[in-house]
Amino acid sequence: MALVLAPRVSDSARARAWIVEARAIVVFSGAGLSAESGIPTFREAQTGWWARFDPERLASPRGWEDDAALVWAWYVSRMARVREAMPNAGHRALAHTAYAGKLSLVTQNVDDLHERAGCRDVVHLHGELFAHRCSACGKGHADVALPSSRAVPERLEPPGCTQCGGRIRPGVVWFGENLPATAWERAAAMTAACDLMLVVGTSGVVQPAARLPVLAKRHGARIIEVNPQASALTDLADLHIAATAATALPILLDA
Ligand code: APR
Repeated sequence: MALVLAPRVSDSARARAWIVEARAIVVFSGAGLSAESGIPTFREAQTGWWARFDPERLASPRGWEDDAALVWAWYVSRMARVREAMPNAGHRALAHTAYAGKLSLVTQNVDDLHERAGCRDVVHLHGELFAHRCSACGKGHADVALPSSRAVPERLEPPGCTQCGGRIRPGVVWFGENLPATAWERAAAMTAACDLMLVVGTSGVVQPAARLPVLAKRHGARIIEVNPQASALTDLADLHIAATAATALPILLDA
């Protein structure tokens, strides 16, 4: 039975009041938002036979050069797992409010659960799991066939690009790579213009993404954090809701 933490009533009331009076809300989400959809966070994904590898080796240009088949197999297993997952109540609550035009989304997550819950125009700072592209010519390849999550071998040769024959790679940002310039610029502009930031399900340790809540605060925004644990951003937050995203967000967003 999973531990379900409900937010304290006083904290929820205060957070709800801030959400109602906010002019522009930015949600900054991390892997914890997808945890209740069964998607392990980046580090938890190193369970089982992945535990033998350094995560930053699997998600880095060096790892890809050293053993593209190992890296591709790891991403294919993550893609298959996301395909089999469903958006949770937290994703749906955000989509409902975003629909009302009150809230915009910046995510570190590479899954498509925000979009499958109904959110549009999500800013993906770390790329997108299904936006495969050729590692040589950069051509996009959305049509890569995927096995089911239970059928992914430990190593799988990446498919070849139909345009140049180069290896197709995942459309995510690897450690040591720059964030997509447009995504960062849009996220920074939205952050500077918001008067409330909802920080949901992130440890706040990966830069430069974790700078966004600091930027929001510097521009006078209030910060509400939703996370059952404390994070590197908890001290910055004006209010920490110690609850899970799927429990807290429907309450806070009145969805
Ligand atoms: N609801 C809300 N928060 C949760 C939940 C939940 N159900 N379950 C876990 N969390 C919190 C954890 O307490 C933790 O603080 O989510 C956070 C997950 O932290 P990380 O695993 O570090 O994920 P994230 O912060 O998104 O990592 C940022 O680092 O690994 C890279 O590129 C990867 O985008 C990722 C980036």
